[in-house]
Amino acid sequence: KDGMEQMVLDLGQKYFGAVTCDTCGMVYTATHPEDEANHAIFHRKYLSCTKFKGWKNEEVIEEFPDGRIIVINPDAPKYAHRKVEEVRELVDRELGFVEGNTLSGKELCKTFLFITSEKKIGGCLISEGISKGYRVIPDETPPPSQSSDSSKESKKAWCCETTQEPAVCGVSRIWVAGLMRRKKIASRLMEALRNHYTFGSFLTMDDIAFSDPTPDGKLFATSYTKN
Ligand code: ACO
Ligand code: ZN
Repeated sequence: KDGMEQMVLDLGQKYFGAVTCDTCGMVYTATHPEDEANHAIFHRKYLSCTKFKGWKNEEVIEEFPDGRIIVINPDAPKYAHRKVEEVRELVDRELGFVEGNTLSGKELCKTFLFITSEKKIGGCLISEGISKGYRVIPDETPPPSQSSDSSKESKKAWCCETTQEPAVCGVSRIWVAGLMRRKKIASRLMEALRNHYTFGSFLTMDDIAFSDPTPDGKLFATSYTKN
């Protein structure tokens, strides 16, 4: 039998229309040769970018049975920032952000990476210092003893996408590898951020704003704040 013909037929039977790769998250049409070729390129890039053998001077802040969380501070070496940029590009591609929107230059930017026991980057949280943000976090209970002028109605809102509120820390990007989701990796990255963003203090959810949440991001944030 002719090999090529068989291959096309097999693909046609298994996939019809758009598919999402479980590993790299790319949506593509399996029956479309150009799309498939693009996927193959991106898939390879994804695998190499998320490989993580470890650094000599990495700053481990938490350890778990299934991995560890490291922090990359603004004064970290160049190679560490380069890795963050690489991962951010992958994340932005999945989130559909436009290219060229680099983070370099932003002040007070701490990044947290979840490294799996399989030596892969399983998750990433990029923070940024901000003074205002769009709060997506529900806050149903009014603060106990606050003067009426500072506690506004908007505090009760589930999702304030139109009004900016003061915050000290922005979650610029939060992302977990497709095959690693729903294992509390994002939750653990949030805890790491809250514990390590400011030395000696734990951030409350009121201090944190999500910069541009996706539907996944909103579902996660809503659930995370309830626990
Ligand atoms: N649908 C419904 N509920 C969800 C979802 C979802 N897709 N994701 C998380 N939750 C809720 C659940 O209640 C979950 O608890 P459960 O699994 O016990 O039910 C809880 O949030 C905690 O979830 P985690 O396991 O900690 O979250 P995870 O590690 O899976 O990561 C994330 C969540 C980061 C949103 C992931 O789905 C992802 O990377 N998505 C694609 C990228 C993305 O959209 N990121 C957010 C962008 S917004 C921003 O960056 C500012
Ligand atoms: Zn892929």
